[in-house]
Amino acid sequence: MMKVKNGYWAAGAALLLGGAVIAHAQAPERNVWTGVYRAEQAERGKIAYAENCAACHGDTLAGIDVAPALVGPTFLNNWNNTSAGDLFSRIQSTMPLNAPGSLGGRKVADIEAYMFEANGFPAGNLALPPNAALMPNVRIVAQKPEK
Ligand code: HEC
Repeated sequence: MMKVKNGYWAAGAALLLGGAVIAHAQAPERNVWTGVYRAEQAERGKIAYAENCAACHGDTLAGIDVAPALVGPTFLNNWNNTSAGDLFSRIQSTMPLNAPGSLGGRKVADIEAYMFEANGFPAGNLALPPNAALMPNVRIVAQKPEK
């Protein structure tokens, strides 16, 4: 009798968990062409980029000898179909190369917003959040999807 009860409970829990997983997967996905940062965020990011990144990646993000471009086809190809959260984590944990982990979440989000602007993605009404876990559904798509 106990066994059966536990069995039902386990099945019910599995159903509930399964439902949660499905609901998560169906959370609306946005991509970088839908306005995922605010214009003033990119403005701040431009300043933070100049202070923390430009020495290696160049004033225009085009890259110089020491570091690759953060705009254009090669960069976008590297990050196509990843998420804004992936790029955020990459920046926060490995950059600036000479002081990884030194930038707070807000600054990283501002710099990422500036990089999105420089790559031609439009600004919108929602700010890019200062935490990778808050943007797993924001997809980086190199080519603007047709619609
Ligand atoms: C001291 C030099 C230096 C500084 C400063 C620096 N980077 Fe880098 N960055 C590099 C180098 C070198 C690479 C390529 C090797 C690697 O990935 O570690 C790189 C790679 C990257 C990549 C991966 C590019 C790709 O195509 O996948 C990103 C994104 C990036 N940097 C962002 C930044 C940002 C944002 C800043 C400022 C917060 C910054 N970097 C500051 C040297 C630097």
